[in-house]
Amino acid sequence: MMAAIVRVDRAVRTTCRKFSRQNRLYSSSNGVEWRESGCCKTIRGKTMRPWLGILAGMIGSCGALLYYLNESSVKAFGELEITLPKYPWAFKGVFSTFDHAALRRGWTVYRTVCRTCHSLQYVRFLDLVDATHTIEEVKQIAAEFEVEDGPDNEGNYYMRPAKLSDKVPSLYPNEEAARAANLGAYPPDLTYITLAHHNGVNYIFSLLTGFMDPPAGIKLEDGQYFNPYFPGGRTSMPPMLYDGMVEYDDGTLATESQMAKDVVEFLFWTANPEHDTRKVMMMKGLGICLILIASLLHMNRRYWSHIRSRRLAYAPNSVSREPQLPRVWHDENGIRGTNKRNTLMKR
Ligand code: HEC
Repeated sequence: MMAAIVRVDRAVRTTCRKFSRQNRLYSSSNGVEWRESGCCKTIRGKTMRPWLGILAGMIGSCGALLYYLNESSVKAFGELEITLPKYPWAFKGVFSTFDHAALRRGWTVYRTVCRTCHSLQYVRFLDLVDATHTIEEVKQIAAEFEVEDGPDNEGNYYMRPAKLSDKVPSLYPNEEAARAANLGAYPPDLTYITLAHHNGVNYIFSLLTGFMDPPAGIKLEDGQYFNPYFPGGRTSMPPMLYDGMVEYDDGTLATESQMAKDVVEFLFWTANPEHDTRKVMMMKGLGICLILIASLLHMNRRYWSHIRSRRLAYAPNSVSREPQLPRVWHDENGIRGTNKRNTLMKR
């Protein structure tokens, strides 16, 4: 029953719009009788429109205000900060995945260079399987590390070669030891570092390649290095990457920027290991949604087609139209009758 009412209503609306073009509006209560009215003005869609506009405007301005406050508050902290360049990361596209050869090279850079100071304590060797190396290679890599295990039957802790299920062991047992070895500065764990910084990948790439001599007027303490990308400009991390520092097993030339790019892509992977799967899932989801939306549109057209293709004629009230009876008819006793008026009109 509801559906029928809605249909009549819709037919009326359509016709009303047609007539409003001629500066006159007509409506009907049951879809049959037409009378002049202002029905189009009270249609919900029309009167709601200004309110929707105001709502959208309010949401827009609140968003713009929040964005402005956020941006300006970030800028207020670091006076010496410079704008980060935007690099064309291959994995940033909507449909692009990691370059797994780059991840493999990135592990080499971490293993050879960064691990001397930074831990990667939330990554297990198992995670590397099929992401950077084959399982056989990862087993070999793991065996090169030693982890503490125990207690054994005599209650002693002992060292053993790492297994696939172990986390990548840190060089320092705790933060204090790491600080003591780095003149009081703490080299943070690198697993989630790309997420810990605003614009993480561009920041770390710029940081790694941005070491330079301090400009005039800036004095560095012992063990400090100048890097314009580091907040404040003075960092305790020494410049670590030099051309040819590592040897890649795929023969790629190990320039400073190549190593920085590879290690940053690797660190983005450690922070987002589900990145590739997520994008594949998104593509599947979008595909399903497209099919659903297409069939909904089709259903909608089909459902309303008899209304859209209906033609409504308008007869003004001033022209009186009497009900038309059939010209020849039979009553309940089977007696034949004729419609005199029609007969007359015919003559
Ligand atoms: C000699 C030790 C050492 C090595 C090797 C090293 N770092 Fe660092 N790193 C540090 C120290 C110390 C800090 C802390 C700097 C500070 O707080 O001033 C740091 C900080 C960082 C930070 C954080 C910067 C910030 O703004 O919070 C990142 C990112 C980083 N290092 C990346 C790397 C990468 C990638 C490598 C390998 C290519 C690497 N580091 C190699 C010592 C090292």
